[in-house]
Amino acid sequence: MTLSSPDASRDAVFREAWAYDLAFAWDIDADLQLAARLAEVAPPARVLVPACGTGRYALGLAERGFVVEASDLEPNMVRFARAHRAHPGVAYRVGDMRDDLGDETVDAAFTFCNSFRYLATGEDASRHLQAVRRRLKPRGVYVMELALHPRPPVPPARNGWQVHHEHCLVTALWTVDRVTAEHAFERATISVQPHDQSEPERFVAEQPQRLWTASSLGAAAHAAGFDDLVLFDRTGQVRAGDVTGRYFARLRAGSTPCN
Ligand SMILES: C[S@@+](CC[C@H](N)C(=O)[O-])C[C@H]1O[C@@H](n2cnc3c(N)ncnc32)[C@H](O)[C@@H]1O
Repeated sequence: MTLSSPDASRDAVFREAWAYDLAFAWDIDADLQLAARLAEVAPPARVLVPACGTGRYALGLAERGFVVEASDLEPNMVRFARAHRAHPGVAYRVGDMRDDLGDETVDAAFTFCNSFRYLATGEDASRHLQAVRRRLKPRGVYVMELALHPRPPVPPARNGWQVHHEHCLVTALWTVDRVTAEHAFERATISVQPHDQSEPERFVAEQPQRLWTASSLGAAAHAAGFDDLVLFDRTGQVRAGDVTGRYFARLRAGSTPCN
């Protein structure tokens, strides 16, 4: 397990898939269960998981009996998922969620853990929403899990956690150093301290994350051919208005097929 020297380039946190996976090793079962329920599909429905990362959610959906197509822009993430999250019900591939999501119709689509917010421009977000819409069956559902923000945008903030593993302690720190009208500029630091007291490994990445409110997300979804957006909190309750915090957004595709 080696890590390159601290690297402040935009995608470093995703290139080091093994460290990302150690830092995000929490129980996702409740979120998966809720997302699958909100998508209104039953196994063996065919589902899409863009920005699948190390495959945590894709594997969970495959284990529930769904037929999963999962993709990610970062080849290291896809390699890791194939090696550690393999399942006969899931196919992993490298693909850009802006326009490379494949062709066949699917019953539902999912993105988790703020992945949609990595699409930094309105145009990127719109290309992605249209690409998902093209793949969804009429009235099919896209469930995205993301943080929504107030207007004016959030002030700088910090969020950190530690995960204890058998051989190491992983510390993750997410700080928002700068906020503009459209973006939060995040600095992610992941440190891995082996228990044998050898040198800790650490890397840093800076990433712009696009800020969305319920209204701006609803408008973007509508423009891309979704005709309904409903927000749910983590307990599955519907939430109305321009709420702030972490939500599951359910976007329902229009009733006409899309090519
Ligand atoms: C915060 S991670 C979440 C990964 C995964 N959804 C999870 O919850 O573990 C965001 C992921 O988005 C991917 N990503 C960013 N931009 C992308 C794009 N344009 N197309 C596909 N994947 C992208 C990154 O490589 C990274 O794996």
